[in-house]
Amino acid sequence: MDTIALDSRLRHAGGFLGRRSGMLIDGKLVQAVSGKTFPVYNPATGTVIANVPEGDKADVDLAVAAARRAFDDGVWAKVGPSARGKMLWKLADLIERDLEELAELESIDNGKPYAVAKVADLPLAVDMFRYMAGWATKITGSTLPLSLPGEYLSYTVREPVGVVGQIIPWNFPLLMACWKLAPALAAGCTVVLKAAEQTPMSALRLGELFQEAGFPPGVVNILTGFGETAGAAIAAHPDVDKVAFTGSTEVGKLIVQAAAGNLKKVSLELGGKSPAIILPDADLDLAISGAANAIFFNHGQCCCAGSRLYAHKSVYDKVVSGVADIASKIKVGPGLDPSTEMGPLVSDEQFSRVTSYIEDGRRSGAHVAVGGNRVGNLGYFVAPTVLEKTTPDMKVIREEIFGPVVCATPFDDNDLDAIAKRANDTIYGLAASVWTANGGTAHKLASRIRSGTVWINCHNVFDASLPFGGYKQSGWGREMGAEVFHNYTEVKAVTAAL
Ligand code: NAI
Ligand code: MG
Repeated sequence: MDTIALDSRLRHAGGFLGRRSGMLIDGKLVQAVSGKTFPVYNPATGTVIANVPEGDKADVDLAVAAARRAFDDGVWAKVGPSARGKMLWKLADLIERDLEELAELESIDNGKPYAVAKVADLPLAVDMFRYMAGWATKITGSTLPLSLPGEYLSYTVREPVGVVGQIIPWNFPLLMACWKLAPALAAGCTVVLKAAEQTPMSALRLGELFQEAGFPPGVVNILTGFGETAGAAIAAHPDVDKVAFTGSTEVGKLIVQAAAGNLKKVSLELGGKSPAIILPDADLDLAISGAANAIFFNHGQCCCAGSRLYAHKSVYDKVVSGVADIASKIKVGPGLDPSTEMGPLVSDEQFSRVTSYIEDGRRSGAHVAVGGNRVGNLGYFVAPTVLEKTTPDMKVIREEIFGPVVCATPFDDNDLDAIAKRANDTIYGLAASVWTANGGTAHKLASRIRSGTVWINCHNVFDASLPFGGYKQSGWGREMGAEVFHNYTEVKAVTAAL
C-alpha cells in the first residue's frame, strides 16, 4: 500500500479518507475478493490520498448475483413506488447533510475547486434524487384503441428493465453516479455501479449513505476497480439486463460489443466537440464570458464543452481577445485553495493527452493566442488555452481534447444553413450554443444543428428535468428528464379479447 499524504486544508473529509471504507455489495461494505487495493491520487500534487478496493470480475459476480436476487425476488418491487420515492428523497437529504464532506472529496480526488463542487456538482446531485423520487409514482402506460373487428381492451405498462450495470467517468464523479442511480432506482431496477478508477472516493462514501438510508441489500451495489477488468465484466455479464455507460466513444464501442453476448440493452453518453456560435448581433459581453465558461468550466473536462468557437468575422477579433483575456486571468491552483478558479486536470494520463493535443495543434500550424503551457512543476495543471488559425482537418478541431483548450475560427457566412454546416462538421452531436440577440435566428439555427442539446445565449445549463444525450457518435439514449425512463423500462402491451 502506498503512503498517504492528505492536504492540511481538509476540514470535512479527513475522517473518511483516514479510515478504510469498502465497496457496497449486497448491503455490506466489503474489500475486494482478491484482497487487492489500488492507490488514488490528488491531482494537484500527484500524492496518494487513499488505497481503495480493486474490484474485478469476482466482485462483479457477487454484486450482480445480489442485484439479480433483489430484482427477481421482488425485494425492490415490493417496497412500492411511493416508499421507493421516499427512500430516494432520504438519500438526497443525506447527501445534502454531508454536502461539504462530499464536495471536499470531489475536490481532492478530481482536482476541481471545492467552491465549484459545492455550488454545482453537489446541489445537482441532491436535486437529481429529489426529481427522480417524484417520478417513482408516475411511470405509467396508456390504453390503446384497436381497429380490429371484435372488442378488446389493450393497455401498456412500463416495467423495470431488470438488473442494470452502470459505468461512469471521473469528470463529475458523484454527479455522474447520481445521474445514473436515481432514475434506475425510481424505475424499480436494481443496480451495480462502477466508479471511475481515477475518482472512486465520493462513490464509496455514497455507498455508506445508501446503507444509512436503509436501502434493502442487493438493490444498490457500488464497486471500485478498473475499466478493463471490473468494467468489462459488467458489460459482458449474462445476468445484467442493461448497461448504461458514460465515457469515451472508444470504450462506448467496446461496451456495445461486450453487450452483444446476451443482447443486453445499452445506453451511451459519449464524447463531443460542441460548437459555440457567435453571430454578429450577439451581446458581446455576454457571449465572450459565455464562450469562455463553455470551455473552461470544469477545466474543459465536460462532454459538452464548447471546444469549437465560431465567431462571425465582424466580431471575431473582439471575441478572441475577450476570451483570451479571461483565460489569462483565471487563477489556476489546487482545488482546496479558496482563491483557485481552475484546478489541475484529473490525472497524469489526461495531462499528457491534453498537452500532446496542444503540441499537435502547434505542429500543424495552429497559433496559440494564450496559454498552451503547463502551470507549475507539480501536479497536472494546464493553462487555459485559446488556439487560432485551426483548419477543419486538424486533429485539435476534429477530436475531443477534454481539457481547457478551445479552437477559435472566424466565419463570414450570413446564411444559416452554411453556419449550421460548420457546426455539424463533426462525428459528434452532443451540444451546441448559439449567441444572438435575434430570437427567430436562434431558433432557426437550433433546428438546423444536429445535437441533443442546443443552448441559446447560455452554455452548460443543466437541470434534472432536461433530457441530455447525443446524436451521431455522442451516444444512444437520453439521461435525465422523463426521457431517461426509456433507458430503464421495458414496455409491455397487454390485450384482452372481451
Ligand atoms: P474511459 O471511457 O476509458 O473511462 C470511462 C469509464 O469506463 C471508467 O469507469 C472506466 O473504468 C470504464 N472503462 C474503461 N475501459 C472499459 C472497458 N473496456 N469496459 C468497460 N468499462 C471500461 O475514459 P478515460 O480513459 O478516462 O478518458 C479518455 C477520454 O475519454 C477523455 O480524454 C475524454 O475524451 C473521454 N471521456 C469522455 C467523458 C464524457 O463525459 N463523455 C468522460 C470521461 C472521458
Ligand atoms: Mg480509458
